[in-house]
Amino acid sequence: MVKQKEAWSNGWQMNQEEAVNRMELKIMPLSENEAFARVAVAAFMTQLDPTLEEVEDVKTAVSEAVTNSIIHGYENKGGNKPVVIEAYLTKRRIHIRIEDEGVGIENIGRAMEPLFTTKPELERSGMGFAFMEAFMDELHVESGRGRGTVVYMSKQIGGQ
Ligand SMILES: Nc1ncnc2c1ncn2[C@@H]1O[C@H](COP(=O)(O)OP(=O)(O)O)[C@@H](O)[C@H]1O
Ligand SMILES: [Mg+2]
Repeated sequence: MVKQKEAWSNGWQMNQEEAVNRMELKIMPLSENEAFARVAVAAFMTQLDPTLEEVEDVKTAVSEAVTNSIIHGYENKGGNKPVVIEAYLTKRRIHIRIEDEGVGIENIGRAMEPLFTTKPELERSGMGFAFMEAFMDELHVESGRGRGTVVYMSKQIGGQ
């Protein structure tokens, strides 16, 4: 697990050397800001000339991850700790990292199973990670109880 964590963190750093552009957005954990984050990332990626479908896929994945940080990580309580959304573009790929300093996830494997949720009262329950996995090429989650959560995702854009 620790090895995997290092591999991903290092990969994130190393790949940035090939980045043609980079952005970072820090938002308060309010649901009003979820749409802002999703649209900001969508606007940022337009320079890779994505199809509408690719834009929709990335927006959905960002929306799910940011929503999770707000409602699960920070338990819908707002507060001063941020959700940080970073993205960078290489020639044909968008790489995204979404981080919160919230309660964290005790069992990541179980949390990522389709339909698993700790909030069954919500709409579309338990499908957030499944959507991120379906709509992006790569998905990796680092978390632990009380340690916050980092979600890494990437997707090839254009050029198939
Ligand atoms: N950022 C996060 N912080 C804490 N827990 C999280 C976070 N993201 C996901 N989880 C946990 O993983 C579960 C599954 O997430 P997800 O697949 O998006 O389904 P849902 O959000 O509908 O519950 C959540 O119910 C929650 O327990
Ligand atoms: Mg969710």
